Amino acid sequence: MHTTQAPGWAKLADHFSKIKNTHMREMFVADPERFSRFSLQAGPVFLDYSKNRIQQETMDYLFALAREMHLQEKIESMFSGAKINTTENRSVLHTALRNRSNRPAMVDGRDVMPDVNTVLDRMKDFVNRVREGTWLGWTNEPVKDVVNIGIGGSDLGPKMVTRGLKAFARPDLKSYFVSNVDPAHLENTLAGLDPRRTLFIIASKTFTTQETMFNATRAKEWFLQSAGSQDHIPRHFVAVSTSTDKVRAFGIDPKNMFGFWDWVGGRFSLWSAIGLPIALSIGMHRFEQLLQGAHEMDEHFRNAPLEKNMPVILALLGIWYTNFFQTESQALLPYSQYLEDFPAYMQQAEMESNGKRITLQGLKVDYATGPVIWGAPGTNGQHAFYQLLHQGTRMIPCDFIIFARQPDHDPGQHRLLLANFLAQTEALMLGKTIDEVREEMQSQGKSEEELQKLLPHRTFPGNRPSNSLLLPELEPATLGALIALYEHKIFVQGVIWDINSFDQWGVELGKALAKSIEPELEDDTPVRNHDVSTNGLINTWKKMYWK
Ligand code: F6P
Repeated sequence: MHTTQAPGWAKLADHFSKIKNTHMREMFVADPERFSRFSLQAGPVFLDYSKNRIQQETMDYLFALAREMHLQEKIESMFSGAKINTTENRSVLHTALRNRSNRPAMVDGRDVMPDVNTVLDRMKDFVNRVREGTWLGWTNEPVKDVVNIGIGGSDLGPKMVTRGLKAFARPDLKSYFVSNVDPAHLENTLAGLDPRRTLFIIASKTFTTQETMFNATRAKEWFLQSAGSQDHIPRHFVAVSTSTDKVRAFGIDPKNMFGFWDWVGGRFSLWSAIGLPIALSIGMHRFEQLLQGAHEMDEHFRNAPLEKNMPVILALLGIWYTNFFQTESQALLPYSQYLEDFPAYMQQAEMESNGKRITLQGLKVDYATGPVIWGAPGTNGQHAFYQLLHQGTRMIPCDFIIFARQPDHDPGQHRLLLANFLAQTEALMLGKTIDEVREEMQSQGKSEEELQKLLPHRTFPGNRPSNSLLLPELEPATLGALIALYEHKIFVQGVIWDINSFDQWGVELGKALAKSIEPELEDDTPVRNHDVSTNGLINTWKKMYWK
C-alpha cells in the first residue's frame, strides 16, 4: 500500500492537527504515569521516550500505520533471507553474521551459517596469532601497529567500535584508520610507524573503491621501500573483501583474505570480517560478545510485539517528526567521549539507507524520507550547537545516549556528565516561561527596564522532543545492542516510507564524474565541455596551479 494512502496516515494527520500545539508540560501534568507508559527495556538498553510530543493515541495510530505497511511480515522477510534489496536482487542478512543461535539463515535455499562460522574461525586464528605475537613480520618481529585502509562502511563501523571500546584494547597494539584519498591522511598516519611491525588491512567490499585502492597502493610502496621484496607482502598485508579475484589482482594472496558476501551491505558490515580491526584490538572473545549483544537485539526486534519493540518505537517517533512535524534533522548526542564517532557512523547508516525518493514500486514519494543525521558527544555539543536546539526556530528531535558506568570510571566526573545529560533533556522539554524568567530576574534585583529588554531573549519555548537511552556499562555486548537497535530503526523507517534502504545508487553519479574529470586535470589545457560553473572552476584551478 502507498504510505500516504494507508488509513493510519490520515488518522495521524488529523490527530497531529489536534495536538501539534500541546505543550509537553501539560502532557506530563495530565498523565502522572507518563514515564512508565512511555519507557521500556530491551536487552541492556533502557529507553525513556516520554519527553516526546505524543499521547497514547499518537502511538496507537503509529502502530496501526506500521501494521498497514505490513511491518511484521517485512521483518520476517529480512530475517528469512528474502531478496528485499530489490534493485540489486540481494538478501539483507547482516543479522546472520551475529546469529549466535546458529539457527539456519537461508540465502537461495542454502544455509549461510557454515560460511559465517568458517570466516569467524579464520579470524580467530589470525587474531590470536597477531595478539600472541606469533604472526611475525619480515624481520621476525611481532605486529605493533594495525592500519585499516577502507572508506564508508569499510571504515566508519570498525573505527567507531574500535575507538568506542578502546578501554579493552591492548596497549601494545595500536589501531589506525585511513580513508581519505587526500594523501595527507595516509602520510600523517604512516609517519612514525615502523614498516617492520605494521600490518595493513585493506578493507573493501568491492575492492574497486578508488580511494581505498590508491591508499592501498601507496601503502604497499611505502612498505616496499623498506622491505625491498614483494615476498614480504603476505606477512604485512591482509584483505577483507567479497571479491577474491580483485584481491589476487591487487597482489594479496587469497590465503590472506577474509571474505564476506553480497548479502552484507557495506554500512552494516562491521559484524563481518570488516570487523577485523575491532577483533585485533579487543580480542576475538570480546568481538564475539559484540556479536552476542547485537544478536540479542535482533531477537528482541524479531519477536517483541510492535508496542514493546524498541527499534519500532524509535522509528515511529522519527516518522511522527519527519512526516507530521516536518522536522528536517535528527541529532544523536552520546554522552560518552568513547562514542565520539557514533554520530558519523550513524550518519552513513541512516542517510545512505534512507536518503531515497523512489518507492519500491518505482514511484516518486510525496512525503519526506530520511532526515539529516548529525551530532557530537555531550558535553562538548552543549558549548557549540545546543543554543539552536533550545532557542532556534527549528525543532530538532534529539537522542541522548549515556552509560551508567564507563571504563576508567570516575564517579564524580561521571555524575557531572549524567547531570548534564538529564539537565539538557529536561530543559528542552520544559523550556523557561516568561513568568519564570521574570521571577528569577526580579529576585536578582534587576530593574524593570532591564527586565523588559531581556525577557524575550531569556525565555525558552521548550516542548522540544528527545529520547533518553540509558545503558548499564560501555562494553562490547552493550555497544553491539545499541548499534543493532539503530540498524533496525533504519529498517523500520524504510518499510514505512516504502523505500529500499539497502542500495546506494545516489553515490554513483559523483563517482563516475570524478573518474572522467580527473584526466582533465593533468595539464593546463582549458576545458569547455562542462557547464560554465564547472568549466570556470577547473580553469581557475589550472591558473592557480600552473602559475
Ligand atoms: O560510497 C558508497 C559505498 O559503496 C558505501 O556504501 C560503502 O560502504 C563504501 O562505498 C565503500 O565501499 P567498499 O567497501 O566496496 O570499498
